[in-house]
Amino acid sequence: MQAVVVSKTDWKSPVVEFFCEEDVRKVEFFDNEMKAEIQKFINSGLFSGKKFEIVPVTNHSKKIVILAGCGKTKELSPTQMRIITAKLVHSQVISGYNTIQIIPMKGRDSEIAEGVVIGGYTWEKYLTEKAPGPSKAMIKSSNVKEVEKIIFIAESVNYARDLVNDDSDFMNSVQIEREVKKLVSGKKGFSVKVLEEKELKKLGLNLILAVNGASPYPPKLIIAKYNGGKGKYTAFVGKGVTYDSGGLGLKPSEYMKYMRDDIGGVAVLMGVMRNVIKFRPKKNFIFALPLVENMIGSKAYKTGKIIKSYSGKTVEVEHTDAEGRLILADALAYVDKNYKPETMIDIATLTGACITALGYDYMALMSRDDELADSLLKSGQKTNDRMWRMPLYPELLDYLKTKDADINTLGPPRVASVITAGEFLSRFVGNTRWAHIDIGAAVFVNDDHRWYFGHGATGKGVRILTDFILSH
Ligand code: BES
Ligand code: MN
Ligand code: ZN
Repeated sequence: MQAVVVSKTDWKSPVVEFFCEEDVRKVEFFDNEMKAEIQKFINSGLFSGKKFEIVPVTNHSKKIVILAGCGKTKELSPTQMRIITAKLVHSQVISGYNTIQIIPMKGRDSEIAEGVVIGGYTWEKYLTEKAPGPSKAMIKSSNVKEVEKIIFIAESVNYARDLVNDDSDFMNSVQIEREVKKLVSGKKGFSVKVLEEKELKKLGLNLILAVNGASPYPPKLIIAKYNGGKGKYTAFVGKGVTYDSGGLGLKPSEYMKYMRDDIGGVAVLMGVMRNVIKFRPKKNFIFALPLVENMIGSKAYKTGKIIKSYSGKTVEVEHTDAEGRLILADALAYVDKNYKPETMIDIATLTGACITALGYDYMALMSRDDELADSLLKSGQKTNDRMWRMPLYPELLDYLKTKDADINTLGPPRVASVITAGEFLSRFVGNTRWAHIDIGAAVFVNDDHRWYFGHGATGKGVRILTDFILSH
């Protein structure tokens, strides 16, 4: 759903106004004639401002007002405001209109804008019949600049969602390369380099090569560079497993079904890149996107195999389904060595254990650097994109000991899998300041709906990293 900011409303399309329970009796409305009509509804108890109440009011001319209840003011958190807006944009009452106009409650215009754009998102590419409903919302606001920025970033969230939601045979490594080039080509400060299979072999990024062994699509390490200012690079590395079958340690079908979402880290970074192009921060960034597919077949990498990584460390494959940390290890080590960044942040659908630990709403953050962690957490709070820090400590390395290689991919089953994965990655970043974000839980909604995200990819992470980039 498209959102635009306007300075006033008219009667060409329905006007939505939001109310909390407490203010409903002292209804403020810009049109006196309609105010009287609305008052009738309130007096007769047909609208009381309760959460999710949606009541249309009209007079005999062509004026239509939709009253949307927000419940008690005290309980109306920013996330609740987005949820209520999302319910509204999908509601039956407005489904017959192409455009709606929205008058936000005071100070809530940004949250409502996100509710419209993120909450109004639907994935319908492969549906022959699209759901009816408005395609455009005009949001009345005097904060034009700020709300337009929120809208742009929310559209980048949806861009990331499109990349995740699409069919994994379509959105394979070759297609992602096309998408990246389409996104950044001709954009000031951006350049793209792609390491193809031959170079990956020559350079010894053997972990990336191993994971892609049985895929019909070529492995790639795409490096997008952005030079917008002086100083060292901040590097971002995204997990790009276009499909994760689990490899020879095959996943059961019910866990495999949505594994096209394993491209989530790459998709989030592409959403962030879209924002960098728009807002042009005066900084330097690397976006490293390792792309593979984890499949089965005679060329699949084997459980128990010892692989020499780009960093020189040898790695034992305890389970072929722990592929994400392998491709990230090579990508992190490559970026660290070749670009000497000041900071590296990876974002990845790394563990299902994330779901057990934190549920679906929170991304898990790990870092040995308190300052970096704090600034990421701050961005999480500011954007309500929700992130929680998990511990890392040197003794965790004991879990990753093996007699046959320098390091094992996994610790003991079901023991702190989120942080042993983080610990594993930390061994490939040298002394560089680094943080790891696990979006294994937050990336996708595979049941009915989650809050304002509806069904499918959430694009979680785009807002946090964008805020982090623009404010530090
Ligand atoms: N891509 C998965 C993690 C995942 C699971 C993401 C569910 C989103 C939803 C990852 O590659 C994986 O398979 N992890 C395994 C590791 C296990 C073998 C120790 C997991 O978490 O089950
Ligand atoms: Mn896996
Ligand atoms: Zn995976």
